[in-house]
This record gives sequence, structure tokens and C-alpha cells, in this order.
Amino acid sequence: MNIVILTGAGISAESGIKTFRDANGLWENHAVEDVASPEGFSRDPQLVYRFYNARRAQLQEVADNPAHRSIAKLINYCKNSTKHHAQLITQNVDDLHERGGLKDQDVWHMHGELKKMRCQKSAQVFTSPLHLDEKTLCPCCHQAGNLRPHIVWFGEIPFYLEEAFSLLNKCDLFLSVGTSGFVYPAAQFVSMTPETCRRVEINLNDTQISPVFDQHLTGKAGDILPDYVDELMEGLS
Ligand code: OAD
Repeated sequence: MNIVILTGAGISAESGIKTFRDANGLWENHAVEDVASPEGFSRDPQLVYRFYNARRAQLQEVADNPAHRSIAKLINYCKNSTKHHAQLITQNVDDLHERGGLKDQDVWHMHGELKKMRCQKSAQVFTSPLHLDEKTLCPCCHQAGNLRPHIVWFGEIPFYLEEAFSLLNKCDLFLSVGTSGFVYPAAQFVSMTPETCRRVEINLNDTQISPVFDQHLTGKAGDILPDYVDELMEGLS
């Protein structure tokens, strides 16, 4: 069986990381275009560095939850199987899937990673210091001012798209966990699966892409996923 799991901010909500779309449309009290767009970064780089430094610092205060651990259990089980394959694609920039039990290379961070930075000249990616700013020296060009957070901003192309499209084509089970279906292309993934694919959405609420799914499990990912994964794994063995 080919399984694709797409996760969004909802899976980390129970760990204490706020989701993106709160009641007034702000991300941690900032307009998304100010802190998550190339234009915002050129307008006010210091604000953007500060914003992601605060998000990075917050990672030290939170921990993975049962939903992250269940996904890791399923993926690690499939890695040891010759019959099944499971791939995680996450829109989250936190590292809670890794802390929940996955190896770095098993997590496709399509929107980038808070713990990484990128040189804008060479496109090389490095581990970010906790505090990144315009004075941080780049490990490759040894200059300051070239580094940016390794985050995909609005208007930029997400990572792992080609790999995702080819897996979605042959997917038998598509699991969407804690994502609002607002942001493309991730919101389109479910529609790219074949007709034979079972599509399951786990969310606190219905989303705008709910009608495309075969099954909705309504509630917290951390409550639903442990039992769901155990049952699924019984069927796989
Ligand atoms: P959103 O904040 O848009 O949506 C979070 C979803 O999680 C909502 O549908 C909630 O109902 C649901 N949710 C909240 N708590 C939950 C829980 N405990 N269990 C299950 N579901 C829960 O976040 P995303 O869909 O991830 O992009 O947002 C997608 C992208 O938009 C983000 O990656 C980010 C943002 O702008 C970039 O930064 C490029």
C-alpha cells in the first residue's frame, strides 16, 4: 500500500505552537505578508529576522505530541516492510515530526525549516544559529547580509513538489492532518490522488476542501491518530 500523509499547523497545535490562521487572520500578531513574503523581507529584514528568531526560540519550549509519534510509528513500520510505503509531507516549519521519532530525511518540509538558513547568493542551506540577523556571517561566502531563514514565503515555490506529485499519482491512502486547505499547492494534493485512493481528513473542523475526502475524523489529531494508526497497522500486517 502507498500511503501519503500531509500535515499542517493543526498537528502541532496541541504542542503549543499556534496555527497560522487565527480568528483575526494574523500569524502571531503579524500580517502574514509582512513576515512571510520576499517583499516583507526586503521592506523590513530586521522584523523578519526577529519574527523567525522568536519562532525558533519557541521550539525550545515545546515538545512533540502523540500525533507526531503515531505518524513516526507508521512511517518507521513501513520502512521495514517490503509491501508498504508511507511518506510524510509537512507544511510545518517546526521539527516536531523529527522529535516524534522520524529521521531528518524522512520528513519532506515543503515550506522549509525554522532550524535552517540559506545563503541568498549560493542557495546553500545550513543549520541556523538561534539568533540569525543581517550581521550573521555566512559559512560559504564569509560575508554578512546574505543569509535568510530557510522558509518558503508566499509567492515562492515549495520544496519537494515533483517528488510529491509522483507519489500522489500512485497513492492508495491519503491522510490529511490539521491543515485548513487554504494554501496551494498543498491544498490540491488530495485532488491529485487516483480515484481508487481512500482520502481521510483529520481536523477539528470541516475545511474548504472537506468535500473531496471520503472520510472525516473530527477532533484533535493527538486524540484520533494513535488509535487510527494502530488499526491501520493491524490491517497492513
Ligand atoms: P492553518 O492555520 O491554516 O490551519 C490549521 C488547521 O488545523 C485548521 O483547519 C484547524 O481546524 C486545524 N486544527 C487546529 N488544531 C487541531 C488539532 N489539535 N487537531 C487537528 N486539527 C487541528 O495551517 P496550515 O493549513 O498548516 O505557509 O497552513 C498552511 C500554510 O499556510 C502554512 O504552512 C504556512 C501558512 O501561511 C507558509 O508559511 C509558507
